[in-house]
Amino acid sequence: MRSYSLIAPAKINLYLEIIGDRPDGYHELAMVLQSISLADQIDIRSIGVENIVVRCDHPLVPENESNIAYRAASLMSKQFPDVFAQYGGVEITIHKHIPVAAGLAGGSANAAAVLVGLDLMWGLGLTRGELQELGAQLGSDVPFCVGGGTALATGRGEVLSPLPNLDDIYLVLAKYRKLSISTPWAYKTYRRKFGHTYVTDTEGQENSGQRVHSEPMISAIANHNHREIGKLLHNDLEKIALPEYPQLLKLREAFASENVLGAMMSGSGPTVFALTESQSQAEQVKAAVKAKISDPDLEFWIAQFNSSGISIAD
Ligand code: C5P
Repeated sequence: MRSYSLIAPAKINLYLEIIGDRPDGYHELAMVLQSISLADQIDIRSIGVENIVVRCDHPLVPENESNIAYRAASLMSKQFPDVFAQYGGVEITIHKHIPVAAGLAGGSANAAAVLVGLDLMWGLGLTRGELQELGAQLGSDVPFCVGGGTALATGRGEVLSPLPNLDDIYLVLAKYRKLSISTPWAYKTYRRKFGHTYVTDTEGQENSGQRVHSEPMISAIANHNHREIGKLLHNDLEKIALPEYPQLLKLREAFASENVLGAMMSGSGPTVFALTESQSQAEQVKAAVKAKISDPDLEFWIAQFNSSGISIAD
C-alpha cells in the first residue's frame, strides 16, 4: 500500500515516581502508563520526491523538522536509506485531537504512529521491540506509545513491562486551553526542590525501580480493583505544578469531590483527569465540574482506557 491511516492514542499516568538523576541527564522513573481512547489520526503516504513533509492545521504544532513526527520519519529514512529512496519520500498529515503540551504524550504518540506506519508502508517487518528501540531515540514515552495498553515503565520511561488490561474504566479529562507546561521545566524544578531526596547510587536506583513491581498499584491493577487504583493514583510532578498553578489544584479538588474513583494530574500536566466506573458517570462528573468552575477556557473530554497502542484506522 502507498498510504496508511493510523490511530495514535494519548496516554495518562496512573503512577509517576521520580527516583533520581541518571548519568544521561534524564531522571530515573517508575511509572504506570495507560493508553486512552482520546487519539490523533495520522495519515502517511508516499510522495514522488525524496522528502519529508508534515502537515497539521493546529496552530501550536510545527510543520517543520522540529516536529517529533518529522524526526521519526527522518530517523526511519536514515535507518533504511535504500527503502526511502525506493519509495521516494513521505507526507505525514496530523489530525490533532489530543491537546498539545498537556501531559498526554500527544507528540510521542504521533512519532510512534509514524514508526509503525512507515514499517507497514515500506514492508520492513520490524518487531515491536525494534520499533520501541527506534522510538527510545526520539523520546522517553515513544516506546510505550507503540504498544500502548497498561504498562509499568522504568529507566527513563523506555523499559516496559506489560500489565493486565483495564479497558472497562472511563475517565473525564480537563485542560485550560491557554495553559501549557513544559516538561523540561517541570523536571528541572523538581530537581531543584527535591533533588536532596534522590536515590544517588545506580544500584539503589535499580532496586527502587524494581521495588515498584510489588507496589500496591501493581497489585490493584492485577486484581482489577478499580477503587484501589483510584485511591493509589500518584504523581510526583503534582508537587511542582499544583503550587505553581492554583487553578489546577482547584480543578483536581473539584473532580475529587464528585463520585469518582480518583483524580490526578497526568504527566507534567496540566491536564487533570478523574476515573469513573462508567461513561454516564463520567458525563455526570463533567457536568458537575463544569457547573462548579464556569471558565470558558476550560475544555473537557470523555474517554475510556484503551488496551492497545498504534492501530490502523478502519
Ligand atoms: O524524553 P523526552 O524528550 O520526552 O523528555 C522531555 C524532557 O523531560 C527531557 O528533556 C527532560 O528534561 C525530562 N525528562 C527527564 N527524565 C525522564 C524523562 C523526561 O528528566 N525520564
